[in-house]
Amino acid sequence: MKKITIAIDGHSSCGKSTMAKQLAADLGYIYVDTGAMYRAVTLYALRNGLMNAETKEIKADELQQQINDVKISFVLNENGQKQTVLNGEIVEQEIRQMLVSSCVSPIAALGFVRKHLVALQQQMGEEGGIVMDGRDIGTVVFPNAELKVFVTASAEVRAQRRLAELQGKGDTTTTFEEVLKNVEERDYLDTHRDVTPLRQADDAKLLDNSNMTIPEQNALLHQWAMEAIGNS
Ligand code: DC
Repeated sequence: MKKITIAIDGHSSCGKSTMAKQLAADLGYIYVDTGAMYRAVTLYALRNGLMNAETKEIKADELQQQINDVKISFVLNENGQKQTVLNGEIVEQEIRQMLVSSCVSPIAALGFVRKHLVALQQQMGEEGGIVMDGRDIGTVVFPNAELKVFVTASAEVRAQRRLAELQGKGDTTTTFEEVLKNVEERDYLDTHRDVTPLRQADDAKLLDNSNMTIPEQNALLHQWAMEAIGNS
């Protein structure tokens, strides 16, 4: 059976990665979380004094000079879960924290960062057999993907899901209002940035999962994937 390319784009915290991961496992495809790559660059900038977490000011020239030193890869842990690696160090936990979440949009708006990561993502998907999730996968990274899906859900539903995730990891201080504000801010920045703003590709299928369970959304996505594989 032909191995196709599946692009899953959409708003933050709408469960893209959960469904993309499951689909990749079902099909025996490689899964790539491109948001993790933008988060890893953000962590690099914060750690190296190239971004001020308060003012969000970025030393863009210096970051651009160092961009080839930012090595990002993925490994699987003993449970088979994907872990993001930044310059040899597993940073999966750190890149999910609010500090990185609140700084990632301005980093993802930098043209040279996008160019660098898009090239890396295209390399990862050269052979097909890939499920990649992000914001510009169907529009920029793989405009010829055989299946494109655009996922969304209401901001409140997404904030509730992200809060539950943070609490599940032991966060007892972050409030619903803080998470909702972050979700809304990132929606605004992601859809209004100059460089490849988030938008639904003309040929993407829309999946609004506000009122869907995880098994329901997985089943729908699986059905679309089987149709796309059959048609290719
Ligand atoms: O999916 P996520 O929340 O982990 O993504 C983190 C940020 O990275 C998000 O604010 C938008 C940005 N991003 C992007 O601009 N392009 C991508 N392909 C993936 C993520």
